Amino acid sequence: MAEEVRGGTVCASGPAAPEPDTPRLRALLPPLRPPADRRRWIAVAVVLLLLVVVAVSCVDAGGDGGRPSSAAWQTPAGPDRPTLRRAAPPNVRIGTAVDSRLLDTDPRYRSTLAADFNAVTPEYVMKWAALERAPDRYDWEPPDRLVAFAEANGQAVYGHALVWHSSVPAWVSESWSPAQLRELLRKHITTVVSRYRGKVWAWDVVNEALAENGTLRQSIWLRKLGPGYLADAFRWAHEADPDARLFINDYGTEGRTKKADALWRLVRQLRSQGVPVQGVGFQSHLRADQDPTDIAGNLRRFAALGVAVAVTELDVRLQLPATPEKLVGQALLYQHVLEACLAVPTCESFTLWGFTDASSWITYHYPGYGAACVFDGELKPKPAHASLIAELREPRSAPPG
Ligand code: XIL
Repeated sequence: MAEEVRGGTVCASGPAAPEPDTPRLRALLPPLRPPADRRRWIAVAVVLLLLVVVAVSCVDAGGDGGRPSSAAWQTPAGPDRPTLRRAAPPNVRIGTAVDSRLLDTDPRYRSTLAADFNAVTPEYVMKWAALERAPDRYDWEPPDRLVAFAEANGQAVYGHALVWHSSVPAWVSESWSPAQLRELLRKHITTVVSRYRGKVWAWDVVNEALAENGTLRQSIWLRKLGPGYLADAFRWAHEADPDARLFINDYGTEGRTKKADALWRLVRQLRSQGVPVQGVGFQSHLRADQDPTDIAGNLRRFAALGVAVAVTELDVRLQLPATPEKLVGQALLYQHVLEACLAVPTCESFTLWGFTDASSWITYHYPGYGAACVFDGELKPKPAHASLIAELREPRSAPPG
């Protein structure tokens, strides 16, 4: 029997609802003037039922404008299907980016999120432009809600992202002096990392520091503060939370590319200067028909620098329309990336950049592409979900040593 979501309420779209004039229902209704025709009775009954459901859900939501209190974040027991979280080996975090808009409004999104993932990354709400829309005016509620949800569902939180060329608040001006901008950056990192100390296991401290050719990307931070901004950012984050794992995160580095070589040299150099770069994140926004070369070997050479590695933003976009063949190709690439991560003992986290085609940045960032996630727009598992489950269940020999 298919399930549909209408206005937030799940209604069986199978056999029709019970007739309204049953003695039980009539007993419920106050004596009303008998209406002329049956349909009006049905309409009346449906409206009443909906009112009851809404009233119940408001009571359940703890009544603060429909956003559940942390107690109400407790999601129901998992679905009766294989879930990534249940299939995952104990030392591997299977995570996803979270769209806070759906987290707040969609119970099915929430239950799938809780059932399939033991780690979460805020897709948007911890980015600087979203957090501090005006100087010293932080909008903590959305990230706090995500952290509360994660805590209520036993999920690790991966913070994203402290320093980035994008999502810089509009009020930050490049006309300010280097000293002013340096102090602003220090204050931002310290404020955010301190607030979530002990609640966030890892941070993307610096995101997308490299340009496509492997040189340092031009940004307000590089232009005004010079390359030293990277080391400063990691040191400030480490001071604010010495226990958080600190990552440098980038894309186009998932295979043996020039950019990956440049990132490898940058990490080695920073660590040789004692800069606390403790992890390297590989975003992995992939095309189903473009396999990165030697993913596992690439992860291994970074791991050999003494850092943790992680797949941080995996999605596999399809040239639309999606066909059964393309979905199989997609499933194989998802499985391939997971296999590479599981083959490297220090690959601590495997995160998808969203899990449902109903909420994927690919749809609007890559015209003509889409269907990039492991669940479809109806939250039905796709072949990619099954291939990840299969890979997670693969018996693995204990890593050497
Ligand atoms: C994307 C979000 O998914 C979009 O919703 C937003 O419009 C732009 O940013 N690399 C990153 C992510 O590090 O933060 C980006 O997320 C995708 C690319």
